[in-house]
Amino acid sequence: MTRVLIAGCGDVGSLLGTSLAHEDHEVWGLSRNPESVGLGIRPIEADLADPGSLKGLPANIDFIFYTAAAGRRDEASYRQVYVEGVRNLLTLFERRRVAPRRIFFTSSTSVYAQEQGEQVDESSPALPQSFAGQLLLEGEELFRASQIPCTVLRLGAIYGQGRAGLINRVRQGVANYRDDEVHYTNRMHRIDCAGALRHLMGMPDPEELYIGVDQEPVSERELLFWLAEQLGAPEPQAAATPSSRSGNKRCSSERLLKAGYRLRYPTFREGFAAQLAEFKGSV
Ligand SMILES: NC(=O)c1ccc[n+]([C@@H]2O[C@H](COP(=O)([O-])OP(=O)(O)OC[C@H]3O[C@@H](n4cnc5c(N)ncnc54)[C@H](OP(=O)(O)O)[C@@H]3O)[C@@H](O)[C@H]2O)c1
Repeated sequence: MTRVLIAGCGDVGSLLGTSLAHEDHEVWGLSRNPESVGLGIRPIEADLADPGSLKGLPANIDFIFYTAAAGRRDEASYRQVYVEGVRNLLTLFERRRVAPRRIFFTSSTSVYAQEQGEQVDESSPALPQSFAGQLLLEGEELFRASQIPCTVLRLGAIYGQGRAGLINRVRQGVANYRDDEVHYTNRMHRIDCAGALRHLMGMPDPEELYIGVDQEPVSERELLFWLAEQLGAPEPQAAATPSSRSGNKRCSSERLLKAGYRLRYPTFREGFAAQLAEFKGSV
């Protein structure tokens, strides 16, 4: 049995934690409001940005998953979670007599600023222009500089149950796409985010960096038309000012796949089909 701490135990963290608890691992889930951590996870109320609140964290932790997310898209929130929180947690565990075997950090493909539809893998330059990408990269660098072994998983846009924003926009006919270019987007189903983290934990010597996306970067237009067809919604329209503003790149998860992870949802088609079926089942 291993002892696992999930720091920032929200959606992906809870999915992962509950599946680890099912395997009889001992799992703690930390957040400021831990009443909603998943089944089988022991809640810890603490604030990663407040070192004093972290002092009572359990001893002899084998693995940490840092899956905290900024609740707001502003620089102060990002700095608090992806830089200060990381620094606080590392300082605490580096001082302990028994260090964790490894920390896993869920970063984002937004650290890549590529905007011309380039192929991106782990060897591609990460030169973020946005504060979000820059602060995530700063967090990654803190982990890399730590004495504790660390693996970063750069996730694409997470989708799946509980994340209905895009589906609702398509249904309402207000989702649109750029009219001037093919615009590639990258995503990973939430079940695969948790599954990939579980897979990496089981590897004796994982690499320091993986990209976590599915196997098909898809143009925004193709995705919106596909969803509209499934939903019987109006045809999405081209717009000079599109409803989403993510970068334009084609990320590859080949390293993760070569490491033996099998995606439950290899493309948006399987993933959204499952999400839409759940959605219809719940109405
Ligand atoms: N959403 C995406 O499309 C996307 C894309 C790429 C990467 N990621 C990364 O993937 C990971 C998982 O995302 P998710 O959607 O599962 O996140 P989520 O559901 O929003 O969960 C994040 C958790 O972090 C906790 N948290 C935030 N600030 C905290 C603090 N100061 N102290 C303690 N806990 C704190 C939140 O709880 P409280 O607010 O109650 O404390 C929440 O439980 C995150 O690291 C995220 O950055 C997400």
